[in-house]
Amino acid sequence: MNDFTFHTPTKVVFGRNAESKLGALLREQGCRKVLLHYGGRSAEASGLLQRVRDALKAEGVGWVELGGVVPNPRLSLVYKGVELGREEGVDFILAVGGGSVIDSAKAIGYGIGSGGDVWELFERKRKVTACTPIGVILTIAATGSEMSSSCVITAEDGWRKLGCTSETSRPRFAIMDPALTMTLPDYQTACGCVDILMHTMERWFYASGGMELTDRIAASLMRTVMKHALILRDDPQNYESRAEVMWAGALSHNGLTGCGSDGGDWAPHKIEHELSGLFDVAHGAGLSAVWGGWARYVSREHPERFVRFAQHVMQLSGAGTDEEMALEGIEAFEDFCRAINMPTSIRELGIEPTEAQMQEMAEKCIAGLHGPAGKVKKLHAEDIVEIFKMAL
Ligand code: NZQ
Ligand code: ZN
Repeated sequence: MNDFTFHTPTKVVFGRNAESKLGALLREQGCRKVLLHYGGRSAEASGLLQRVRDALKAEGVGWVELGGVVPNPRLSLVYKGVELGREEGVDFILAVGGGSVIDSAKAIGYGIGSGGDVWELFERKRKVTACTPIGVILTIAATGSEMSSSCVITAEDGWRKLGCTSETSRPRFAIMDPALTMTLPDYQTACGCVDILMHTMERWFYASGGMELTDRIAASLMRTVMKHALILRDDPQNYESRAEVMWAGALSHNGLTGCGSDGGDWAPHKIEHELSGLFDVAHGAGLSAVWGGWARYVSREHPERFVRFAQHVMQLSGAGTDEEMALEGIEAFEDFCRAINMPTSIRELGIEPTEAQMQEMAEKCIAGLHGPAGKVKKLHAEDIVEIFKMAL
């Protein structure tokens, strides 16, 4: 077991009409001017944004608005937000939406708090020194950004998608009302479930350390998400299942399911970020498409954790060799993905990267990381190209 620090300072307010607590939560933060940040249409159409504006008014808090965040959020809007935030003297950012809106809010917070050109923080030319405090009203269970310390932004110039992690960006509060996710298209619900699973799977596939308690928490979380993803496929309005998935999403990426290990592999995420950066596919679907290629490539040399995945997560009890058992677990997970209508190959995303594009994505991945990807097997550009081909 490795030593670890576990720090999750986000205050979670969970349940039906949780957004009615917004005024009190803002009061606790003592903010004077809020940047209200949101996405395309969904929060306006559901009436949520109007309820937020009413709460701000009732609380006597001033605010400015910046909407228009798109999935795979763009740097150009982050720049706009930083400029607006500086001009208006914003001291708090309220993100109303999913991972894309929360990530965009964090990046704006970095820009206002740390000064200078915010993209340099993503390029690791400078370190984050501060982030404007963030609050979240979550509308999709997926990324766990509502409790995480990271955000991912795409620069239109070169379509580079890079992450930036800093403890300063962990949201101060997260309002999670499972009923808010009931307006999601089925596809987005399924993408979210895959992403939640992957955040714990990335931590499950580690190279060193680990502990029994974490394994048991992780396996239980993954089995719970798979069960309720299937229920939501047939009954999207099921509140209990919406709630199980939403809470799992937050716990899956707040560090809990990685305590005691080396932090996990994360190569599937890094590889997917290149795919969604270049082709603008939904993150969860991209993960579902590339994971099988990665798992087959890596498990050949390192089947141990894949065998445990087959036994403890997919609950298989085959009597074959380690290699056979590992493969059975991978196939069982892909069967689950297909059952919730998620792709298990890149072509099913409706795209077909050329050899040159696979090479470009692999090289950008390594460049963005400043070294090889993954821990179970360290992957260089040629390995990543091979994985793209296997996942095609
Ligand atoms: O813009 P609107 O109209 O709101 O539409 C959104 C968007 O089209 C829609 N939506 C959200 N809530 C809805 C809704 N539609 C109807 N009803 C609702 N209640 O759903 C679409 C997807 O939203 P988005 O925020 O993009 O989804 P998600 O939460 O999956 O976020 C994906 C982004 O987060 C990054 C991904 O790479 C991707 O850019 N990630 C962030 C992480 C982090 N910060 O810790 C970790 C993840 O691994 C991930 O990389
Ligand atoms: Zn993810």
